[in-house]
Amino acid sequence: MQKVMLNNDWRFGTWDDSCRTVYDATLSPVRLPHTVKEVPLHNADPSMYAGEFVYQRRLNVHKEEGMSFILHVDGAAHQAQVYLNGALLGSHHCGYTAFAIDLTKALKDGDNLLTIRLDTREDPSIPPFGFVIDYLCYGGLYRDVWLEICPLSHVQDAFILADMYRHLRVELTYAGTGTQPLSLAVMDPQTNQCLALHKDDTGAAIQEFNVPDAQLWSPDHPKLYTLKVMYGEDVRTYIFGFRSIRLGACSDNVNDDWIYINEERVFLRGLNRHQSYPYVGYAMPSSMQEEDARILKEELHVNTVRTSHYPQSQYFIDACDRLGLLVFTEIPGWQHIGNQSWKQTAMTNTEEMVKQYRNHPSIILWGVRINESQDDDDFYAVTNRIAHSLDPSRPTSGVRYLQNSHLLEDVYAFNDFSYNGTGKGALSKKEVTKEEAPLLISECNGHMFPTKSWDDALHRQEHALRHARVLDAAMKDHTHIGCIAWCMFDYATHKDFGSGDRICYHGVLDSFRNPKLAAAVYASQQEEEPVLEISSSMNIGDYPAGYIGDFYAFTNADEVKLYRNDDFVKSFYPDPSAGLKHPPIRIDDTIGHLLEEKEGMDPSVAKDVVACLLAFQKYGMDRLPLSIKAKAAKLMAVNHMTMKEAARLYGIYAGGWGSDAIIWRFDAIRNGKVVKQVKKGPGHQLHLEVTCSSSHLIEGDTYDVSALRIQIKDEYGTVASYCQLPVTVTVVNPNVLEVIGPSTFTAEGGMCGSYLKTTGVSGSTAVIVRASGLEPVTVNMEVTKEN
Ligand code: GAL
Repeated sequence: MQKVMLNNDWRFGTWDDSCRTVYDATLSPVRLPHTVKEVPLHNADPSMYAGEFVYQRRLNVHKEEGMSFILHVDGAAHQAQVYLNGALLGSHHCGYTAFAIDLTKALKDGDNLLTIRLDTREDPSIPPFGFVIDYLCYGGLYRDVWLEICPLSHVQDAFILADMYRHLRVELTYAGTGTQPLSLAVMDPQTNQCLALHKDDTGAAIQEFNVPDAQLWSPDHPKLYTLKVMYGEDVRTYIFGFRSIRLGACSDNVNDDWIYINEERVFLRGLNRHQSYPYVGYAMPSSMQEEDARILKEELHVNTVRTSHYPQSQYFIDACDRLGLLVFTEIPGWQHIGNQSWKQTAMTNTEEMVKQYRNHPSIILWGVRINESQDDDDFYAVTNRIAHSLDPSRPTSGVRYLQNSHLLEDVYAFNDFSYNGTGKGALSKKEVTKEEAPLLISECNGHMFPTKSWDDALHRQEHALRHARVLDAAMKDHTHIGCIAWCMFDYATHKDFGSGDRICYHGVLDSFRNPKLAAAVYASQQEEEPVLEISSSMNIGDYPAGYIGDFYAFTNADEVKLYRNDDFVKSFYPDPSAGLKHPPIRIDDTIGHLLEEKEGMDPSVAKDVVACLLAFQKYGMDRLPLSIKAKAAKLMAVNHMTMKEAARLYGIYAGGWGSDAIIWRFDAIRNGKVVKQVKKGPGHQLHLEVTCSSSHLIEGDTYDVSALRIQIKDEYGTVASYCQLPVTVTVVNPNVLEVIGPSTFTAEGGMCGSYLKTTGVSGSTAVIVRASGLEPVTVNMEVTKEN
């Protein structure tokens, strides 16, 4: 099988009937992935990209006899009609699944005209449309288009079931007439070694054999293999992994629900991901899809992602396979169920989703309900049947916000928005369902506490604590198999949602994938890399009445030591009763041992003085609790503490006004060693920090993109959250790279980003990021052209 990529050389414009038959050279030249219209970061609206469009391309093919020519369109949002040389060959009515059209009969030897008519409007007769939707459904040919050239007799599909017992079952669908000799080879892509060769000339659809030396695929060891399928002259490869999934309850405790991967218990700790990006909506190439998977696994350290609310790029799922990130994917839809023909399309979508994604070891759950829809047993009996019959190896689920709704799936997925800042973090299983099936929190937080990167410190702290509390509750009660929070990053949405600018600030990252504090809740749940984020800038002016109050260290350390200007204050420890392995560590005392060390005070007296000073800060003099009044009275009567002395101590140790700048140092300690340090102080020297996803871009099957994450930080490394400076990105050699979206934009909460796109030319360039008054940062980038 030959795969010819067709991402380049398209012409694009608004639809006109003549486009069926006439190549219009006046249309704009475009490359795929493509969005029909770039939109602004804020206040984007579907009317900006809704319409009927045309994509046209010449298809010059040497039409060899005995060969099939099959066109594959991986993503056309939302309805497509495909014409070849004026003849309508097929259409597709889902913006989120791929489709294939056999061009063989209509194809001419030599020059052909391929025309795709794309309707990007929100047609209520197909999912997800028909009512309101909390995300923008951008339009465009936004994934790859390619041509499959293969012998007439070929393998149309191979479904690979590879389990933890190293048993391989391959279900083959053949095209063409007659039977060809079949060989299946299991190859290790790293060593190119063949682990098993299986032959059969009978044309049987089901092939089974063992691969005893195969290693298993798991989140920690995502070992992948290639299955080379040779069917007569047709040779094609599939990537897969050996692993088993089982749902179960612990034998000694029926409330102890787990999902098992290769018989190992896994708690699904994850985030929901949309497939959108600023400006270009859905249209980003492989590198950006892979970057999101990398951020989830390597920066946020989650083990699970839900592709809310539709199947996402194969490049994203391939990356999840390689990284060992578990995936819950689902059919397109949002709350609304349409009429019978709408449901029929949803059933087709279910079939397409399962068939197109079932070889990915990372996918562990099929979502076969429309997200948050009402019960509809007849409808969902069919979607469940489709998924189970096309793939007996994976459980089904379906996301609901309803308690005690009808369960036709294997896992009860529930959006638990019960936590509003007080009470327990999550409902227990018996409050959600009477069913025995395992319970999964498929969403939490989100709209319950929208948080902008420029919100004040208390708000950002509460956002992070809410993520920690729900996850903690879910992990603690052993009646949940996981918690997949809402959501990975801020996203653009319809008018009915968002903060007035049609952005849902629900992410633990901002739209450009810059971390908010809540990101540290997830990032700290691992052992490999030390994490330490402090929830306060330690600037009293950012707090009501100047009282910082308790603040938190989000860390995987087993102790956090606090120092004030290098004087040891106190050690703080995680709560051992927490469900989270690494709960946020509460810091509730910024005076600690200082009075003993600096004032030579007796420890028992110092303890009472600290309690009084902290209480003066917290309550003010007129609202002191009785216990503090009693302590203060005792200090005055027994220890001869005067008001003047108390005021002096307060000024130095609680207020800090007028003294030299206080630098707070936090040391994260693991196994007795300092593994990370964070300093906080009243910063006055800002600088730019630029992280680029890749400085080496590849012009391959199409253009490549590198993401710049830009942050303004003070000299202590704290993001300058209220710094809304204009930032400019300049590409010195614009022949090789261009900026997607505006080149000048504003830092929001001290953070922003930009995307750089290759132009088709190889070469190198400097990219300069500037913000008024700050030292510019230069990133050197290189573009290489692949043959
Ligand atoms: C859920 C919905 C998500 C998102 C979220 C916001 O109800 O499934 O798509 O809207 O709320 O919290």
